[in-house]
Amino acid sequence: MDLAGKVAVVTGGNSGIGEAIVRGLAAAGASVVIDYVARPEDTADLVKEISAAGGKALGADADVSTIAGIDKLISAAKKEFGQLDIFVNNAGIETRQGLLDLDEDSFDKVISVNLKSAVFGTQRAAQTFVDQGSGGVVINVSSVHEDWPMPGNLAYCVSKGGMRMLTRTAGVELGPHGVRVVNVAPGAVATPINAKTMQDDSLREKLEDSIPLRKVADPAEIARVVAFVASGDADYMTATTVFVDGGIMQGGPGL
Ligand code: BGC
Repeated sequence: MDLAGKVAVVTGGNSGIGEAIVRGLAAAGASVVIDYVARPEDTADLVKEISAAGGKALGADADVSTIAGIDKLISAAKKEFGQLDIFVNNAGIETRQGLLDLDEDSFDKVISVNLKSAVFGTQRAAQTFVDQGSGGVVINVSSVHEDWPMPGNLAYCVSKGGMRMLTRTAGVELGPHGVRVVNVAPGAVATPINAKTMQDDSLREKLEDSIPLRKVADPAEIARVVAFVASGDADYMTATTVFVDGGIMQGGPGL
């Protein structure tokens, strides 16, 4: 994968899948702005690691559930690295509440962090690409649950279903500008969002038994697909979703 000379922003970039995406894009030669809201020390370590390997990265503290936060990231990319080519809407949370337990604050939070951020991240990145006249790619990290119900995690499923239609609609609108929009949809991945399942051997075993490839993904396995989608090798791919789930959607029931 060759991303030399490209500039990327990754939201939620200092942990879980986001952290692996940052590493993958930097290893392919991109300069990366790492968005984060907590644990600045983790961001600093990641920047150090990338610099030591000869790459370029910068941390930016921004809440992407606000347009101001998104604009801060794009300004940082332009100021530090001169342009923007790749925008990865990765930030995400889940509260694991079913419909009958769902409260208004949790719903608003999940929708703001997962979906509003992706809508305006796509909008602001696309506007930047159009202004630059350079084309570009937005990658939305959704989930198998953009399509597959997860009982007990309703707001999350609604947000990921929204990302599915964001990608399809924005991809169609932006195609004539040379801007691609693609969802990468992971299944079960060993990250902090899944900590409860990962730390409980019997839950983890039950989950792995339901996955045709019989293992939870390592974040790097998702990041490799994101780097491919970001590259010119995927330049005819837009307005669609790539599932990277070990077959879990076909094997179910998930956890
Ligand atoms: C969710 C996890 C879940 C996995 C597979 C992910 O999108 O964040 O909680 O285990 O999908 O169902």
